Amino acid sequence: MSKLKRTCTCGQLRLKDVSSTIVLMGWVDSVRDHGGVIFIDLRDRDGITQVVFNPDAANKSYELAHQLRSEYVIGIRGKVAARPAGTINPDLATGEIEVIADELEIFNKSETPPFEIIDNSNVSLELRLKHRYLDLRRPEMQKHLVFRHKVCQVMREYFDGLGFIDIETPVLTKSTPEGARDYLVPSRVNQGKVYALPQSPQLFKQVLMVAGYDRYFQIVRCFRDEDLRAQRQPEFTQIDMEMSFVDESDIMQIIEGLIAAIFEKVVGKTINTPFPRLSYRESMVYYGCDAPDLRFDMKIQDVSYIVKESNFKVFLDAIKSGGQVRAINATGCGNYSRKEIDELTEFVGQFGAKGLAWFKVEETGLVSSITKFFPPEILQKIQQHMNAKTGDLLLFVADKEKVVSQSLAHLRVHLGHKNNLIDPVEFNFVWIVDFPLFEYSEDAKRYVALHHPFTSPRQEDLPLLEEKPLEARARAYDLVLNGVELGGGSIRIHSPEIQKRVFRLLGINDDEAYQKFGFLLDALKYGAPPHGGIALGVDRMIALLLHLDDIREVIAFPKTQKATCPMTEAPSEVDPQQLRELGIRLG
Ligand code: AMO
Ligand code: AMP
Repeated sequence: MSKLKRTCTCGQLRLKDVSSTIVLMGWVDSVRDHGGVIFIDLRDRDGITQVVFNPDAANKSYELAHQLRSEYVIGIRGKVAARPAGTINPDLATGEIEVIADELEIFNKSETPPFEIIDNSNVSLELRLKHRYLDLRRPEMQKHLVFRHKVCQVMREYFDGLGFIDIETPVLTKSTPEGARDYLVPSRVNQGKVYALPQSPQLFKQVLMVAGYDRYFQIVRCFRDEDLRAQRQPEFTQIDMEMSFVDESDIMQIIEGLIAAIFEKVVGKTINTPFPRLSYRESMVYYGCDAPDLRFDMKIQDVSYIVKESNFKVFLDAIKSGGQVRAINATGCGNYSRKEIDELTEFVGQFGAKGLAWFKVEETGLVSSITKFFPPEILQKIQQHMNAKTGDLLLFVADKEKVVSQSLAHLRVHLGHKNNLIDPVEFNFVWIVDFPLFEYSEDAKRYVALHHPFTSPRQEDLPLLEEKPLEARARAYDLVLNGVELGGGSIRIHSPEIQKRVFRLLGINDDEAYQKFGFLLDALKYGAPPHGGIALGVDRMIALLLHLDDIREVIAFPKTQKATCPMTEAPSEVDPQQLRELGIRLG
């Protein structure tokens, strides 16, 4: 048991505390031995305080202080003193004082850490995750996690204030279709059967609405076995909610209020609501994707109807085979070198584009190696349509709609960054609305739900379900922030008949539907209220609010790109006995 009892944290002391005797505990951030006097920066979650060991200290603390090394964990007692003039550190909250120690207790030594506990170091993510306990000591990581905690507190307070009830839903459950692969957990007591970890609480929150809970929310872990990218983790957190007797606007308004509260209380900025709404169609046409970054303009333009009058075979062939030609006006980029254009061509190649045709806009008109294939009036029409001015660069992709959209959507964002068109501290929210209910999957050779199969079609589009399913619109909405999908939701189907019709269109027959979601179909039979909801990705939201590109910077114990945890070494092999008990064998 330590003799010392902590009286304050390493971020607290100020000039007003001078002369008081205090006890601090924490980690040695750095040691400086100034020939006779030893200076320690002592660090805890709250900050850093300078501690001074003088040789004339009453007891043995000065001798003991010689043993101190980085990351030793210690307690000190001492007197607060004003720092001598010229030694004040304005970068430190405690920079005007220091503590003259008269007692030192070393609680634990530390081996030399594999990396320095400092911000902005170049340590590999693998090593950081392996020693996450050290990585999480860095002030930056602590700031991220404290920020995350504060946002979650505001979310709870906000929903509680509006009469939402926090209800937990199972982790061992049945497959929920959010479009990814499930993580499966074999059952020991029911050999041959498995649980699935939930991809979201979607079905449970709908059941809660049937059960009359009216307003539900949960900050909840979801599990999806999908290919990982910077914005994805195999387990991630949603702020999930569902409400009864509402329409789209109610949900959107409540979420706008939530975001406004987070900005006001945590970010310290005012955010304007309501957020603008953009239809899915417009978004796809002008930005080539359903999560557009609207911090800059540079819209994509369809020029198929103009260039079909040209003699450029690449364009004509694309249009003839059902494709299209769309273009971006890279304003002011007319001075790009051949090399730069080649780089852009390579860039769009990643998304399947077979080339990138271009025109530079000069005083005399459009100039390119392909100008000869375009009659002058066509060139003029292109220039007009693209609102092209001298010094601009026009970039074209001709292909199937999907390839054109994807290439130009990425190219647009790439050019936005390359040309510094994006204000890095802006927060640009937009709702994407009027989604189609279905899209056709070439891979699966059938219709698939654009959101999930429980999304309600618009009442007026019900007759289209069987006739023209691709034209039926969904009562769905996505929230996009700075080009990242933050969340999505919808008004749900609450009639068992419509739910069955939608399943049938998705190629799920009645038997299969019952086998998979029988409990939902049953629940819908017993007085299901109209209801809807939404879920926002918490990790993504926190990362975006902190201007971070990688959600792993805001998750305490994230996984690597290969879904492993270098610290615990999960996933790992298990005792063969455990597998025998489960009745399974691993290939
Ligand atoms: P959806 O599947 O769109 O909707 O998920 C909602 C939000 O969760 C975040 N998200 C992820 N974040 C990190 N890693 C992942 N692998 C990951 N996958 C999704 C995204 C996404 O927008 N049940 C519905 C919601 C509803 O309809 O109410 C659902 O889960 O930010
Ligand atoms: P080529 O006729 O293949 O030499 O191409 C002439 C120009 O057209 C080059 O700038 C190519 O990058 C471009 N190009 C080729 N295929 C496409 C395509 N599918 N879409 C847009 N531009 C293309």
